[in-house]
Amino acid sequence: MAKTLKLSDRSNIAVFRALDILRQVNEREATGENIVRMGAGQPCFGAPQGALDYAVEVIKRDPTQGYTEAVGTPALRERIAQYYNDYYGVSVSPAQIVITTGSSSGFILDFIAAFDEGARIAVTTPTYPAYRNILKSLNLQVVEIESRAEDNYQPTLDLLKNCDEDFDGLIINSPSNPAGTMIDEIEFEKICLWCEERGIRLISDEAYHGITYGEKAQTALKYSDTAIVLNTFSKYFAMTGWRLGWTVLPLDVAERVKKLSESLFVSAPTISQHVAYKVFDYIDELDTYVECYRKNREILMRELPLANIPTFTNAAGAFYVYADVHHLTNDSEVFCARMLDEAHVSTTPGVDFDLTRGAHGIRICYADSEEKIIEACKRLKNWQS
Ligand SMILES: Cc1ncc(COP(=O)(O)O)c(C=O)c1O
Repeated sequence: MAKTLKLSDRSNIAVFRALDILRQVNEREATGENIVRMGAGQPCFGAPQGALDYAVEVIKRDPTQGYTEAVGTPALRERIAQYYNDYYGVSVSPAQIVITTGSSSGFILDFIAAFDEGARIAVTTPTYPAYRNILKSLNLQVVEIESRAEDNYQPTLDLLKNCDEDFDGLIINSPSNPAGTMIDEIEFEKICLWCEERGIRLISDEAYHGITYGEKAQTALKYSDTAIVLNTFSKYFAMTGWRLGWTVLPLDVAERVKKLSESLFVSAPTISQHVAYKVFDYIDELDTYVECYRKNREILMRELPLANIPTFTNAAGAFYVYADVHHLTNDSEVFCARMLDEAHVSTTPGVDFDLTRGAHGIRICYADSEEKIIEACKRLKNWQS
């Protein structure tokens, strides 16, 4: 009799519910059901038309579209370095930049480069669930620290200092998924310095930079020379399915990431790199997308209380609000499933983001058209009436 073959423990990770809901919604829509999508976190917009036209031109000129250098095309890396100068006033060398397949692959590269097996990485909950899953699959340990509603679900130096567990790395995500909240800038600077002093590697996930409704977000590079920064073309740049991101690294880390990238991914998608280079010419158009999210956010903030959801985060960026539904359920997963069945609106249960308190929360993504957001609010109000 054949022996039962073992599966690795490290691959035994939780399901990523936002993507599971995306799959369910796709299946339901294929049978004709009409759903307003507030589950998965992706813009309803595509890359600006000018960048798409450029992609067609590039393919005609060079149908082969072979590999690029593992770290990405020099032109795109220079363009990104220029963007740091223009947007943040921070000087970055192209040698510090590595282009990745979405920021998701950047996390794998950066975690492997910065940490040995068993290292302890802190995240503050509620948090983007893939951090936990990627870390676990790399045999890294996750230290979960509960952030406080009164701190906008972002870390403060006090919260970190009072944590009774030690950690080797800390992930910060501002504006955040799922809360859409931003870290206080003074706290951010203090945390960057504290991490440097204590030899804690700060990882700043800046995926939602550019999508802010008041103060713009500051990069960790402004405060730290040792921080690792990740960003993506999936959110502000509206190139989600082109699967492209980048990471900015101290030079010693960049050298390791370059070698890892050669062997783990060879290179990020070539055509996407060409489009990304061009997309920087369309910042004005991308900013009109942000204006649409801003309007959607206002609609939601006005309408959610009328749908019996009066408490949610003060979202200053990204395209999410994280709402408190403790008065409606003890099980956010069941609640979201019922909402999908009965109101035909998809959202993501809080247990994806917060293992201890998430049963009482849901994430609502408002990156769809204004018309769809108005329709979702109508459906939720009818459902709750
Ligand atoms: C906070 C955060 N980081 C990273 C990602 C990964 O995005 P991508 O791999 O498309 O760059 C996401 C996607 O939703 C996210 O919300």
